[in-house]
This record gives sequence, C-alpha cells and structure tokens, in this order.
Amino acid sequence: AKKNIALIVGSLRKDSYNRKVAHELMRLAPDELDLNIVEIGDLPLYNEDLEAETPQAWSDFRHAMKSSDGVIFISPEYNRSIPGALKNAIDVGSRPYGQSVWQGLPGAVITASQSAIGGFGSNHNIRQAVVFLDIPMMPQPEAYIGQIQNLLDDNDRLVPDTEKFVQKFIDSYHDWFNKLRR
Ligand code: FNR
Repeated sequence: AKKNIALIVGSLRKDSYNRKVAHELMRLAPDELDLNIVEIGDLPLYNEDLEAETPQAWSDFRHAMKSSDGVIFISPEYNRSIPGALKNAIDVGSRPYGQSVWQGLPGAVITASQSAIGGFGSNHNIRQAVVFLDIPMMPQPEAYIGQIQNLLDDNDRLVPDTEKFVQKFIDSYHDWFNKLRR
C-alpha cells in the first residue's frame, strides 16, 4: 500500500513559491509515496483554554496528521525564523499533552526564499521544534532554496538544476522513510 506523506506549507498566500515547490515534490515523488498538502491556514491560534471544546479545525488537522505516515515541511523564512502560522500548526499538533500527532513520523524540511540565504534560519528553527517533538528529521541533503523566484518556469516547473536537486531530496526522503519504517 502507498504511504501517506503530509506536506505542510508554511506560507498561506495563494501564489506561494513554497506551495509551488510542494507541488513539484508531488510530481517528482516515487510511486510508493502519496504526498498530500495538509492545510494549516484556518487553525485558531493555540490556546489551551480552547481544548475544553476543541475547535473543529484543530480536530480535523490532528486527524489528518494521525492518518499520515510521514511529514515534510516546506516553508519560507519570516524574519529569520519560522512563520507564525507554521509554528502554530506544530503547536496545535503537539497537544493535548501525551497525544501529539508528531511522535516518530519520518520528517524532512525544505525552505525556499527570495533571498540568497534560502531560509537557513527558518530551516533550523523548524528542526529545533520538531526534533523536540520526536520527529526523526532527515539530516541530508539539507535543502535551502534561495532566489526561488528565478527557479520556476512559466508552468511552475523547477528549472533543470533545481529539479535535479529536489528529485534527489525526495528520493533521499524515500530512503529515510524506508530505513525508519522497515
Ligand atoms: C519575508 N521574507 C524573508 N526572506 C528571507 O529570506 N528571510 C527573512 O527573514 C524574510 N522575512 C520575511 C518576513 C515576512 C513577514 C515576509 C512576508 C517575507 C521574504 C520571503 O522570502 C518571500 O516573501 C517569499 O516569497 C515567501 O515565501 P512564499 O510565500 O513565496 O512561499
């Protein structure tokens, strides 16, 4: 059976480059992996008081993650760190205490940015939070895609060099997934 891999995109805007990268991952993924974007844009900000009457959007998100076999974060960098919407989703998935959706899911991260640094700060802040949540994160290849605005063609396909790199990334993730799951 195919394995269900959740893609979590850290940008909420419609024309997000990171979302485009997520779609390219779906196109390039090996057959055995079924990649799907799990949306995070309508999650109320985490507030423990709301657990008394859990918001539907939180329950839906937690349910989607619990039926996933792995997770890949694809995110911009906001002010050298994790976009708030993504951190909120990570927090929502981590609670209630003892019922985290993250524990043990084979994970990986790609950051894409319009600057040259490729979201290095965001990439490592994401790693910091999710390693704490016991997601085994693929160490290599690291993926910092800088100047993403120049790396997609008119059909939103990655230019050859970047496509090759993203192909290597998803193939490496497949190996990482198999190593952890078998
Ligand atoms: C940015 N951007 C940005 N880029 C970067 O490389 N380092 C940074 O610290 C920031 N900070 C930042 C803060 C905020 C609030 C915004 C809106 C943007 C620029 C960012 O790389 C660019 O907007 C990307 O296009 C965002 O990714 P999406 O939305 O295209 O996926």
